[in-house]
Formats: sequence, structure tokens, C-alpha cells
Amino acid sequence: MKFNTKTIHGNQKPDKAYGSVMPPIYQTTTYAQTSPGGHKGYQYSRSANPTRTALEDALASIENGTHAIAFGSGLAAIDAVLKLLKSGDEVISTNDLYGGTYRLFSKIFEGFGIKFHYVGMESTANISSYINENTKLIWVETPTNPTMKIIDIKAMAAVAKTHNLLLAVDNTFATPYLQQPLDLGADIVMHSATKYLGGHSDVVMGALVVKAKSLADRLYFIQNASGAICGPHDSFLVLRGIKTLHIRMQRHCENGKVVAEYLKRHPKIENVYWPGLEDHPNHAIAKAQMKDFGGMVSFTTKGNNYEEAIKIVEKLRIFTLAESLGGVESLAGHPASMTHASIPKEAREKTGVVDSLIRLSVGIEDVDDLIADLKQAIG
Ligand SMILES: Cc1ncc(COP(=O)(O)O)c(C=O)c1O
Repeated sequence: MKFNTKTIHGNQKPDKAYGSVMPPIYQTTTYAQTSPGGHKGYQYSRSANPTRTALEDALASIENGTHAIAFGSGLAAIDAVLKLLKSGDEVISTNDLYGGTYRLFSKIFEGFGIKFHYVGMESTANISSYINENTKLIWVETPTNPTMKIIDIKAMAAVAKTHNLLLAVDNTFATPYLQQPLDLGADIVMHSATKYLGGHSDVVMGALVVKAKSLADRLYFIQNASGAICGPHDSFLVLRGIKTLHIRMQRHCENGKVVAEYLKRHPKIENVYWPGLEDHPNHAIAKAQMKDFGGMVSFTTKGNNYEEAIKIVEKLRIFTLAESLGGVESLAGHPASMTHASIPKEAREKTGVVDSLIRLSVGIEDVDDLIADLKQAIG
């Protein structure tokens, strides 16, 4: 089955009760038993819920995995991966990372004795010197947030395999429409389903997808034992979102290209970060591992002026100034004061998150209106 069919049919069957094409929202905590243990596969909705199962099955299908495990947020999904580790273990992570992931690693898991190395992953040579007998996990985000660096997943998978490490890839920005990390050798794919999978800015959710039952079992155990599950209504919404993922992503990519090329020509703009640009430093890897280049575009203005960047985002009318990304509507953000404010200034500037950086989540509106909006705001 091809991807554009999988989003609609992959692991999805009419509901057993009445044949409803969409699964009902099983808004229930518990399930009647005929005698102790006599149930139909469901006992308590923290452990499993049929609407969540329907979503998890669909997620496994679109990521070419065997099992998916859904959580109450992307961060709850990342938290579950880190709970595979124990005190004394070490993690090698992308240095240009979503601020909340960095906060979870540095403010919570470091306190439990896990050591993190934040490394520029443009080359595998950069990570080799950090590998020792305590290393257990490589954490990759690609494209990175917000400077859109591209990390070679296949190359990272080769390193992980050689040293018997787990490789987890945050696939939030790309989605399986653009890249399928499990096929490239990753062990775990992570999503903030809040973004493109949900696609309509109306649900917060996270997910993990794996291709090994032993790993799925450990993660199911953590999902149930820690309890950071998503509810049935949210599961229904994300399942609905997935059904249009391919057509939304196609338009996000088309509009992203027009916006990136417009900004590239603009005399006031210093840098444009979009992996589809031929002069993007990782364009060749992006071309090899992604089907297209996505709708996330970041840019800086000449002079790197904080106040000017704030004025631009305040003037935008169709782009809404807001956290988050991946919905049908275009959003703009100022990472230094918003999503990445939890990363110390010196550390964030090293990865390109400078004062004038603006991040756009290019939506699926008419692109002429988006360009007109940018024109009036940037001047
Ligand atoms: C790349 C990336 N990973 C993880 C997260 C965290 O997901 P959530 O907000 O659903 O907890 C985000 C949120 O913005 C993100 O952009």
C-alpha cells in the first residue's frame, strides 16, 4: 500500500460493533467483565482504549513500524523514551534541539543521573568521541528546530548499530510523508502529534513508533506504569488529521518553497533556513532522505536587531504570532523569546538562534496572501 493510501486505510478497519467507518470515541474508563479476567481485550483506559488503539495502529502503519504508543503530549513521549535508561547512562543528542526537549533532558533527567552530550550532528565523526560504555541512546531531531539543519539518519543508524545504541528520531517537522526514519535504521520514531499529524492546532499529543516487539513491550509498560496517556477524543482527532496528512504536507511544501525563495531574494534578509534551498549546507542529505522539504522556514534580518524582529512578527496579519507549528494556518514565532527562551542565550546563539531569528510555520492558505503579508510586515 502506498503512503497516500496508508494515511486513509493503513491498519484501519470499520469498527466491530456497527461497522462505523471512523472509530467511535470510546469515552469510558472501564469495561464490563463477565467474570474476573473475562473481557474483550480492554479492562481500564489507562492501559488501553479502543479509540487510542485505532490511532496507534494507524500511526504504526504510516511510519512503517509494527507498534505505536500514544501519549498526552510530545514531551510525555520523549519522557517515556528516557525512562528506558537508568542512572549513569549517557545520551548523545542533537545540539540544535526543541527547547522543551532540552529542558526535559537538562532539568529533569540530568537530576536523575543521566548524562547528556549536545553535539552538532552534521558529521558522524563529531559524535564518535562521545561514545563510551555508558552510552545508550542517540537522540536526533531532523530537520532541527528552528535552524533546519539536516542530520543523516542512515549514517547515525550505522553508528548506533556498531556500538549497540538505541537511535531515536524526532520526526515532528518532517512527518512520515517526508521521511521514514525506521526504514533508514532508527529504532524509535517520536512525534509531537500536536503538530502536522493532528494538523489543525486543536489537540496536544505525542507518539512513539517502533519496529521491534521487545522495545514496544518496554514502552507499553512505561505508558501504563507512568500513565501519560492521551484521551479517546484526542485520539479520534489525530486519527482524523492523519487521513489528510499527505495532501496537507504537499501544500505545506509547495507554499514553503515559495516563501523561502521570496525571503531569499529580499534585500533586508540575511539568512534563510529551508533545506530545499540549494545553498543550504545539508541540501544534499535532505534531498537523499526526504521526499520534499517541508513548510518550516526560518530567517534572520540584516543587522540582527531584536526590536526589528519583534516589530515584524507584531505586524503580520495572516501569519498568527503563536507558539507551535504544523497546523493548516500559518504561524510565526520568535524563538529567542518564545520556544527557545529556556535555552541559555550563549548556548542558543551557538546554534543560530540569534535575536533576529523568526520561524515561520507556513500553512496551506493561498500563497499569494502569505507573500503579501510578509511584504507588508518586513517592508
Ligand atoms: C520538534 C519538537 N519536538 C517535540 C515537541 C514537544 O511536543 P509537545 O508540545 O506536543 O509536548 C515540540 C513542540 O513544539 C517540537 O517542536
